[in-house]
Amino acid sequence: MPESITITDNRTGNSVEVPIVDGGVDANAWSKLLPGVWFFDPSFGATASTSSAITELDGDNGILRYRGYPIEQLAEHSTYLECAYLLHHGELPNKAQADAWEYDITHHTFIHEQLRKRFMEGFHYDAHPMGMFVSTLGALSTLYPEAKEIEDPAVRKQQIVRLIAKAPTIAACCYRFSQGLPFVYPDNALDFPTNFLNMMWRIGSDYEVDPVLARAMDVLFMLHADHEQNCGTTAMRVVGSSHADPYSSAAAAAAGLYGPRHGGANEQVVRMLTEIGSYDQVDDFIAGAKKGERRIMGFGHRVYKNYDPRAKIVKETAYKVFEITGKNPLLDIALKLEETALNDEYFVNRRLYPNVDFYSGLIYQAMGFPIEMFTVLFAIPRVAGWLAHWNELLEQDQRISRPRQIYTGEARRDYVPLTQRG
Ligand code: CMC
Repeated sequence: MPESITITDNRTGNSVEVPIVDGGVDANAWSKLLPGVWFFDPSFGATASTSSAITELDGDNGILRYRGYPIEQLAEHSTYLECAYLLHHGELPNKAQADAWEYDITHHTFIHEQLRKRFMEGFHYDAHPMGMFVSTLGALSTLYPEAKEIEDPAVRKQQIVRLIAKAPTIAACCYRFSQGLPFVYPDNALDFPTNFLNMMWRIGSDYEVDPVLARAMDVLFMLHADHEQNCGTTAMRVVGSSHADPYSSAAAAAAGLYGPRHGGANEQVVRMLTEIGSYDQVDDFIAGAKKGERRIMGFGHRVYKNYDPRAKIVKETAYKVFEITGKNPLLDIALKLEETALNDEYFVNRRLYPNVDFYSGLIYQAMGFPIEMFTVLFAIPRVAGWLAHWNELLEQDQRISRPRQIYTGEARRDYVPLTQRG
């Protein structure tokens, strides 16, 4: 007997039986029975906005899988570029496919000189790098007008490769500009994370990327590559559903990521730990959070009601990085905060656990990234996830996103000329 629910309209006595398919019920059945009655769900807490075969997230059990592969196995054995391939193609590449993919990405890392010199260097000297990143993604659409041909799979693939390849170059460029440093061109002899770190830090010829740090960067890139229908990805799908080009859609997704409740949280975690200042202040800080005066940044998640599996891997990676860079002095405060919160009824009852942002900022800071770059570091690999969802959306041929609203404003009234208003 297939599982189903029955909806009854108590005004008319009419009912409809709706099958439960893959854990969801079709909203069309609701609409047919109840025309003009909208399902009220402002933050999509109970709404599946799409079906998707890309990433599986089981928040109760702390499970994250890309195309079926557990994130723990990918973080241990894979690379970001391989994960990006997997997200897009649905399968891990064989050797020839992996080589071709890496070659393609590597050979699209350069950005148009005018984009850097005329557009990016036009920002105010203290522009936030994430603001620059968001705008530059959008500006790319002006360089690739053919990207509008979103119905052509070959054109789509070309833009996907371009965006994945150019994201780290743009990110490094944002940083170098903010420091007044000359731009470092991509180096095709280097792998993806090493090339990024080289573009970030090279001054003159005496810089060598530490392989442990390059691997840590790659692991962080893998962990951030996709996370199903979060705020940024939903923005990508909503804007993409209007058939906007992928650069404009990715700019919208990046803008969603920028907020402190989403990808901006990694920046806020380090600010929060710095504000706490010392080990002995942790209890007071937690007491304030329990009174609702503040939130513990890097804690809590809409979907995870268990330890975020990414946070575990980030924490392990932090120790490897600190062996090279020296320990981040904020680590002890973070560990005490985590331990205290995990044993406190307030956090236990609400099932609030550290999320991916809790420890990542400590790694970024130890590696020398300024706080303002943290969300950009989240965005670089998330580009792969956004684009996988964008491509899936177009393959699904979904209708334009257009939710309804419950109108709560004034009823009809007549216009009053200014001279007659009290
Ligand atoms: N610190 C203290 N209390 C919290 C926190 C927190 N970080 N997060 C949630 N709560 C409380 C909240 O006050 C509420 O309590 P009550 O039921 O008494 O009103 C309860 O827990 C449920 O919170 P909510 O706001 O309904 O949860 P949400 O699903 O709407 O919000 C969240 C999820 C991630 C926005 C939120 O947990 C938060 O603001 N966390 C801090 C910001 C953060 O770390 N964001 C990164 C998310 S992971 C990376 C990403 O995917 O972007």
